[in-house]
Amino acid sequence: MLKVNFDIPLDFLWAKTPPLIGVDISASSIKMVELSELPKKKGSYTIERYAIELLPKDAITDGNINNLEAVSECMHSAWKRMGTRIKNVSLALPAAAVITKKILLPAGLREEDLEYQVESEANQYIPFALEEVNLDFQVIGHSPENTEELEILLAASRKANVEDRVAAAQACGLKVVVMDVEPYAAETAFEQIRAQLPDEAVDKCVALIDIGANVMNVNVLRNGQSVYSRDQQVGGEQLTRQIQGVFGLSATEAESAKRNGGLPDNYESDVLSPFRETVVAEIARALQFFFTSTQYHEVDYIVLAGGCAALPGLDDAVATRTQVSTMVANPFAMMSLSSRIKPRQLQADAPSLIIACGLAMRRFDPS
Ligand SMILES: Nc1ncnc2c1ncn2[C@@H]1O[C@H](COP(=O)(O)OP(=O)(O)OP(=O)(O)O)[C@@H](O)[C@H]1O
Ligand SMILES: [Mg+2]
Repeated sequence: MLKVNFDIPLDFLWAKTPPLIGVDISASSIKMVELSELPKKKGSYTIERYAIELLPKDAITDGNINNLEAVSECMHSAWKRMGTRIKNVSLALPAAAVITKKILLPAGLREEDLEYQVESEANQYIPFALEEVNLDFQVIGHSPENTEELEILLAASRKANVEDRVAAAQACGLKVVVMDVEPYAAETAFEQIRAQLPDEAVDKCVALIDIGANVMNVNVLRNGQSVYSRDQQVGGEQLTRQIQGVFGLSATEAESAKRNGGLPDNYESDVLSPFRETVVAEIARALQFFFTSTQYHEVDYIVLAGGCAALPGLDDAVATRTQVSTMVANPFAMMSLSSRIKPRQLQADAPSLIIACGLAMRRFDPS
């Protein structure tokens, strides 16, 4: 029998960062994405697996976990469906659960002094006792105004927000190795979309509009950095409720019919079309808010994301109303697909997988 000495480290088998899965805990579902990178080609990614598992209603509200058991069970089903062996996960907190603040501190402090200073500064900005928060910081670099000072990004979140997410993962045997923030994860994945735009949209304003179940988030990015972000209360739940009312269906039936078809002929004219108009009007209004509250007067591209981006004809209706070139987000368009992935299904699901994709990309962080 061949004997293998397992004490010898097989370095070539292990990437520097441990393999991990990106897990987005959102209002309507748990979404998981696993990516890999070609060993000798940095930045050449393959989507290995993904899963979307619907959550029961009200398991999550405003980004908070209300029903830990349901979330954990749903996470477990999603993980089973992935058919992966990786148990490390990266999760994200919603923007509203995190306070970020840029502060300035003198350059040249020792590591311990820096930590001490950060904590005492944090006390001023964070409206909770420090024992109740998870505090983190990142040195951005020297201040452009004064090279004697360092710009530091503080991030703080209530411990309960972090602990609930970690508990849900732990309860189904998964291990949290990264806790990100949703808008940052979206920005990471957005780089994959930016690469698909003419000249990678250098110095252009790109409106990434994520229309989910309850919330539409408009995030305007310039050279990969957010210059504006705002939430409006509109989303696919509204359409689901209308389908229920008009056709006398349960919430589950309405959700399934919306995604898979099979509704009567008058669905398009009586239900879908008015909803599409509502969304288009909200987008036009959101862009007006952007123009009046910033120095910018136009956006160059609109990228539609979130589950509602898949609504038939929405991209054309938005382009016609705003006169801005509009596309539906696919963060995987530049990636290879493993043979397990069905391309047509991925095309439909991709716009809602932005955050999960950004979280999965944390696997390739330089270490
Ligand atoms: N193929 C589809 N056609 C139409 N609607 C869809 C499709 N797929 C998903 N949706 C709708 O998109 C919504 C879910 O989108 P998404 O997964 O982006 O939301 P979420 O991230 O869970 O919610 P939120 O961002 O509000 O927290 C649901 O209302 C769902 O019915
Ligand atoms: Mg969402």
